[in-house]
Amino acid sequence: MTASTDAYADLHQSYGRCLRDRDFIGRFYEVFLASNPDVPPLFAHTDFNKQRMALRKGITMAIFHAGGSRVVDRGIDEMGAVHARDGRCPVPAALYGDWIASLLEVVEATDPEATPELMARWREAMGVVVETFRARDEVVAAPQTPAQEGARGLFSRVMQGLRPQQA
Ligand code: HEM
Repeated sequence: MTASTDAYADLHQSYGRCLRDRDFIGRFYEVFLASNPDVPPLFAHTDFNKQRMALRKGITMAIFHAGGSRVVDRGIDEMGAVHARDGRCPVPAALYGDWIASLLEVVEATDPEATPELMARWREAMGVVVETFRARDEVVAAPQTPAQEGARGLFSRVMQGLRPQQA
């Protein structure tokens, strides 16, 4: 799928206009770090040169993901794993709202063609990726209920019964 056939082609274009300004990602981090006192400690040991590149790609993946592309599934899953509660950089879910608000603020200030409609599309699309991260974290972290454990035990007993007996 190319950006021009993607459901969020308008966002890929908007993002392209933002990236023409080489300080765009840097400004995002300035705004995000100032958005909530809980954010700076998370980045205490971050190499921002690497981080800016990683996020630059990450936002492209997020736009494709929101448009329904499966090509980026692996990348999205890896980003979700980094931010999950058992990941390398666990992110409190409450901060995702600040992340989106910071990104939107900087897009709006940078993209000369930003309109309220376009900004609503950005909010919708970034909401999708954040929801995917949250849902992934809940599934991974959720303890199995006794009913699920029981069903799994039953399933494996049935499967064992179907397997040819070893001599
Ligand atoms: C509350 C929101 C978020 C916080 C507080 C946060 C924080 C962080 C931190 C602390 C790191 C690690 C930096 C390091 O290596 O020292 C990181 C890495 C990263 N984040 Fe986020 N993040 C947030 C949301 C997102 C979202 C929504 C995306 C994707 C669109 C994203 C994409 C990435 C990527 C691609 C990396 C690099 C991963 C790697 O090094 O393998 N982050 N983030």
